[in-house]
Amino acid sequence: MSVPTVIERIAEVRGILDEARAAGKRVGFVPTMGFLHEGHASLMRRAREENDVVLVSIFVNPLQFGPSEDFEAYPRDLDRDLAVCAEAGVDLVLHPPVAEMYPEPMTMSFSVGAIGNVLEGATRPGHFDGVATVVAKLFNIAGPCRAYFGEKDAQQLVVIRRLARQLNFPVEVAGCPTVREPDGLAMSSRNVYLGPEERKAAAVLNRALGEGASRIEAGERSSVAVVEAMERLVGDEPLAKLDYAVCVDPDTLGEPADLGGPVLLAVAAWVGKARLIDNVMVSPAPSS
Ligand code: PAJ
Repeated sequence: MSVPTVIERIAEVRGILDEARAAGKRVGFVPTMGFLHEGHASLMRRAREENDVVLVSIFVNPLQFGPSEDFEAYPRDLDRDLAVCAEAGVDLVLHPPVAEMYPEPMTMSFSVGAIGNVLEGATRPGHFDGVATVVAKLFNIAGPCRAYFGEKDAQQLVVIRRLARQLNFPVEVAGCPTVREPDGLAMSSRNVYLGPEERKAAAVLNRALGEGASRIEAGERSSVAVVEAMERLVGDEPLAKLDYAVCVDPDTLGEPADLGGPVLLAVAAWVGKARLIDNVMVSPAPSS
């Protein structure tokens, strides 16, 4: 297990990656905001398996946090993160200061369009514009590569696939399954905000998704009924405050035409001061 090279300068990481590609090496890239956990590690291991050089970026992006959100408080621990990267076989860690990524105020603005206004975007205005901006910058820095993102952030994955497609980035976007705690809670850097009772309560998000999924699998074809069942479950947990529960088309994130094809069930809830999200894809069996 070797320790990854930590780089703060964009020009330096570009030089290393250009040289690697010139030697015929494939580059795998895992963008993160650090405070790494097993979910991030699963992306790194997949990148390790499929590429010759693995780059991880650790950058808490101020542009994607709202004014009343947790940018300052967002957990950070570079030493521990480097140990996780080393364990997963990562070669390079880009850890730029904010002034390296944003040396001047951003006067260019980026809009992801209507998809940025629903679900997460409804509660976090401008969030996906901030994500798209930093990911576009990171794609330009990394250059031609395969980039790995978690299905845990389903809406983010839809936005990033569109970004890569619509702006012709030479990047192949790969989605990776959500890694969970034994009780089903999706791993998240924000889970550290949970006290012991809240931590137990947080498993309700995944239980609600499981309830919605099993209803669809049992033949339920009303998305309203599925959503109500999920809402009821979260509502029964006194420590959780539901933001939304939805049953949507996985590509448009709009209402599904019917529940005959694949749908995305997604929930968001506050548990204490942590805002948690989770989702599952459900592919109903064709009705006989
Ligand atoms: P961050 O929340 O650190 O997540 C980095 C990547 O890890 C994302 O692709 C996310 O979907 C994935 N991930 C997080 N938890 C996961 C889990 N439990 N299982 C599988 N994958 C998981 O998402 C961001 O950072 C930022 O928005 C970023 C894309 C880096 C732009 O700033």
